[in-house]
Amino acid sequence: MPESEGKRGAFIVLEGCDRTGKTSQCKTLVNKLEEANIKARYMNFPDRSTQSGQLINGYLTRKDDFTDEGIHLLFTLNRWERMKEMEKALKNGVNLIVDRYSYSGVAFSSAKGLDLEWCKAPEAGLLKPDLVILLTLSPEALARRGGFGDERYEVPAFQKKVIEKYGLLKDDRYWKAIDADKTFDDLTVELYEEVLRTVENAGDKPLEKLW
Ligand SMILES: Nc1ncnc2c1ncn2[C@@H]1O[C@H](COP(=O)(O)OP(=O)(O)O)[C@@H](O)[C@H]1O
Ligand SMILES: [Mg+2]
Repeated sequence: MPESEGKRGAFIVLEGCDRTGKTSQCKTLVNKLEEANIKARYMNFPDRSTQSGQLINGYLTRKDDFTDEGIHLLFTLNRWERMKEMEKALKNGVNLIVDRYSYSGVAFSSAKGLDLEWCKAPEAGLLKPDLVILLTLSPEALARRGGFGDERYEVPAFQKKVIEKYGLLKDDRYWKAIDADKTFDDLTVELYEEVLRTVENAGDKPLEKLW
């Protein structure tokens, strides 16, 4: 039986507004898994290296402009461009630790005023994560972290709207909210525990699709 040759990898996403520590924690988690001889790979969305990613980069750095609908579809396309490769990796037993996914796409575009269901539609059929970890920070804790960049979206008032939209997307069957207002290392310990539990259990479950 081919299934018994090896378990599939787990698909784990970190979400949350800017500066909650997603990128650095995702990379640290991949390193920790690899140190434990568990196959793991870091991925992030938007992936600015693909064709659509270059257009997205132009938009985020304010070089290019698109309509809200147009940029939404580009972010979605950016995920579709990676789907075959992600499915292959998971089937080969590689655990994917992914820095933002469809939830960011929908939360950001609907925070701008687009209809939430319209935003979700083109994401339908993408691979569904086994676990979404939502990193949360109170507005005060977020302000203490400071240092927002000057790309589009890196504005506290907009981030607050994004947090509200995450609340609408959150599905307790596979989401877990974790308060990021602690030291980097303490947060890593908490995240790694969740990640390991998911890695252990995902192998027996079929891969599912959004939504
Ligand atoms: N637990 C933490 N406490 C304080 N600062 C943190 C913590 N985690 C990350 N940071 C800092 O916050 C900034 C954003 O981290 P990053 O991983 O890029 O977050 P994100 O990808 O969510 O925007 C970095 O300067 C990082 O050093
Ligand atoms: Mg980041």
